[in-house]
Amino acid sequence: MSKVYDDLKAAFAGESQASRKYNSFARKADQDGFPQVAKLFRAAAQAETTHAYNHLRAMGEIKATVENLQAAIAGENYEVVSMYPEFINDAEAEGVKKALNTFRWAMEVEKGHEELYRKALQAVEAGSDAPQVEYYVCPFCGYTHEGPLEGACPVCGTPGEKFELIT
Ligand SMILES: [Fe+2]
Ligand SMILES: [Fe+2]
Repeated sequence: MSKVYDDLKAAFAGESQASRKYNSFARKADQDGFPQVAKLFRAAAQAETTHAYNHLRAMGEIKATVENLQAAIAGENYEVVSMYPEFINDAEAEGVKKALNTFRWAMEVEKGHEELYRKALQAVEAGSDAPQVEYYVCPFCGYTHEGPLEGACPVCGTPGEKFELIT
């Protein structure tokens, strides 16, 4: 791969992280009573998201939806099969409970994402859109559910009525 491709990849990673970090900082600024600082963090986060999108496009990594779904499945599968199990072992070995919890939650949720993407891929390959359902996401662990959830989140126990509807 060329130097420029690697540069774009590094810039994409950096901007992606900055956008998530700023959104996390915005949430904290709101909690701390600084709504205007929160707004600034969200504005910058949106700009960094645009940079990330532009870098990814320049890399040629935004392809047709079938290929994008395949890439998404591969990414989720890697996280479930290889990345998180390894990270969970590390966290257990070093006894870092907070890391262990967040890795475990994420791994459980990624299993569901792979499933959902596979369903969508099947539909798109057959010439239609993904199944007509509403997606609801747990605000604490990210568990992603088709339709409103009755009862508690199977991953973290948050009541289903707290889930966010994705539009
Ligand atoms: Fe995921
Ligand atoms: Fe949850």
